[in-house]
Amino acid sequence: LSSTLEFIRDKRDGRAHSAADIRAFVAGVASGSIPDYQITAWLMAAFLRGLDPRETLDLTLAMADSGEALDLTGMPRPVVDKHSTGGVGDSVTPILLPILAACEVPIVKMSGRGLGFTGGTLDKMAAIPGFRTDLSPAELIAIAREVGCALGGQTANLAPADKALYRLRDATETVGSIPLIAASVMSKKIAAGADKIVLDVKVGNGAFMGDVESARLLAETLVAIGKGAGRETVALLTDMNQPLGPAIGNALEIEAGIVELKSGCKGRLGEAVLALADELVEMAGSNASPRDAVESGRAIEKMKEWIAAQGGDASVVDDTPRLPRCARWETAQARRAGWLKAVRTSAIGEAARSLGAGRTRAEDEIDLAVGILCRKEIGDPVAAGEPMFAVCAPDEALAHEVGAVLEAACEIVDDPVQKTPVVIGRIG
Ligand code: URA
Repeated sequence: LSSTLEFIRDKRDGRAHSAADIRAFVAGVASGSIPDYQITAWLMAAFLRGLDPRETLDLTLAMADSGEALDLTGMPRPVVDKHSTGGVGDSVTPILLPILAACEVPIVKMSGRGLGFTGGTLDKMAAIPGFRTDLSPAELIAIAREVGCALGGQTANLAPADKALYRLRDATETVGSIPLIAASVMSKKIAAGADKIVLDVKVGNGAFMGDVESARLLAETLVAIGKGAGRETVALLTDMNQPLGPAIGNALEIEAGIVELKSGCKGRLGEAVLALADELVEMAGSNASPRDAVESGRAIEKMKEWIAAQGGDASVVDDTPRLPRCARWETAQARRAGWLKAVRTSAIGEAARSLGAGRTRAEDEIDLAVGILCRKEIGDPVAAGEPMFAVCAPDEALAHEVGAVLEAACEIVDDPVQKTPVVIGRIG
């Protein structure tokens, strides 16, 4: 790289970078040798000018190589992985993993704690007493070989350039760029060693991508990177114009996942999980049926085995009141009769975060017990005064405040409203 200034100037003036220049820049980001102000100047230039598909792939590969790759050589091939771009009430992973295990498609999933409306999958699983995620790659592989699935925390050194870039993007309004999001997501999947990747790209008013066109573009960019990196990749576009599952909150989402698995995955959450499982099972070259794994009860038995293998109390599966629960519940009621037409999904997510279910800063503590239960879906009829939400809050004042926010987040109309599909597209 002739100089960082030249690199910034190239992008500022709309020129494409060479692979070598991208590698040198990413190495400088990861090592800390390029100051934040130069990195952020480049980020804004890339946000405004864009990156072409070749540059996006080069950026992704350089980011994936910026730290240590997860060594999954002990896992049977192909190694499969799944990623969600993030939404509200998205407790897919805790039930997808045991379904895959029951289909004999082993998976080691690395998840984050992360910032969001609720904690990440690691936080949700932490609601199960004793469940450990601080396991070494060797321990995770041993559990996945024995039980069929394992869940660990992303190591600090997985794609460190992404961590450095993401922190600066977050502080400079440069998160919402399709090439930058795609490179960020895929750098971590590639560094985590996956051969076959299924992506759940959320679309709607609770997602990064609000409209189908931009979600489709993101999905196409993600799939193109996967192909370019030699990893078979499929993306499903799934609806995020309402919370995916009936619960938002860490322990509540684990409970909702258990209920969904036990009742045959017939709800919206289960529909999304089975669609993702079908893709992964097929990619792995298996003809097992995820639906059969659920309906036969094998998946719920796998969930117990998996929880126990990671040191957790598997009796929560049959005795969910053992999960953290707060004592104070408030209901938010429908302001009028009619049909539920729309909800402001991100407002519902923010309400859960304000209860303490999610973090705003990395150092924030989260409250595993608190959250929101949604009693109605879009297309459901409602009576005036009927409960729409149950709020589990740490104190009464907050419960009232959040209840009012939730009531205002619903649009109820006079005429019947169609239910909306969960899976709205597939790219791959
Ligand atoms: N998720 C990521 O991992 N990175 C982004 O840039 C956006 C969402």
